[in-house]
Amino acid sequence: MGSCSSHFLSVDHVDEAFFLSLHQRALNVESDSDFSRQHLLKHEIVANIFLEASTRTMISFECALHRLGAQTVRIDAHTSSLSKNESLYDTLLTLRAMGIRLFVIRSSNSRLEDIARTEFGNTIHMINAGDGSAGHPTQAMLDASVLLQQWGHFSGKTLAIIGDVNRSRVARSNVALLCSFGVNVNVYGPPDLLPTQSWHTNMNVCRTFEEATQDADAVMMLRVQQERNTNQKTFNLDGHYLDRYGMTLPRLESLKKDAWLMHPGPTNRGVELQSELVEHPRSLISKQVSRGVSMRMAIVMDLMGVAA
Ligand code: CP
Repeated sequence: MGSCSSHFLSVDHVDEAFFLSLHQRALNVESDSDFSRQHLLKHEIVANIFLEASTRTMISFECALHRLGAQTVRIDAHTSSLSKNESLYDTLLTLRAMGIRLFVIRSSNSRLEDIARTEFGNTIHMINAGDGSAGHPTQAMLDASVLLQQWGHFSGKTLAIIGDVNRSRVARSNVALLCSFGVNVNVYGPPDLLPTQSWHTNMNVCRTFEEATQDADAVMMLRVQQERNTNQKTFNLDGHYLDRYGMTLPRLESLKKDAWLMHPGPTNRGVELQSELVEHPRSLISKQVSRGVSMRMAIVMDLMGVAA
């Protein structure tokens, strides 16, 4: 993917050169204390369409867009005409007629690629802000940016992703992006929540926590997504889960000395990680949230073709 593509729907077309340009732009944005970019989108109204719950991604996009001078409107599943069976396509068509041309969309099954293939799709810009279990490309971009800053390079590094891997859009996008940059990704979790086969040649499905993490340069913990239970099976998330699959202080201390702890959020303290580890000096969780704003500013600037 190069500059000024119409949409940002997946990481599949993000090559390392494009990633590095957005990473550098995100770092530049963070180093500026003023609001010197507030003129860039001052004539834009952007629609944030969030049909699934969100704190980080929704507010992060709003902060990013406001720092670029855009105004934002929010649409949710309950108070919009989506609740009256209007389709997402018709919602976008309606909002475009009001002059909106950038749409940030989170849903459980948005089929944004299908909309992008229509003639209408060429007249708007869409950003995938998390699509069911399929992908969360801006999360992967911010995670990769944080990792590159901590590691200095990607090649030969190992990331362990632990927990509800198979249903995780964060895991899918991170595997696709980081494996393509030469990172090895080890995954581990409850057998029912693991993929049955690898998604990439650089991805390994491990049999124990130790196998997944012993050589890791960072460990990303994932929340069990009870809301995505399709077979009505619920997981018992008492201390047993933390003991078997969670990150505890002894486990953190057994990792490589310079290994980092990550989590895309929201965290369930005491379930997939011991509560106090969220604020541990080796935790990058707050840094991930901060980078979310600057990386999303970088992505929006590129998409809208506005200079840094
Ligand atoms: N990481 C993430 O997507 O968090 P939210 O669901 O709060 O947006």
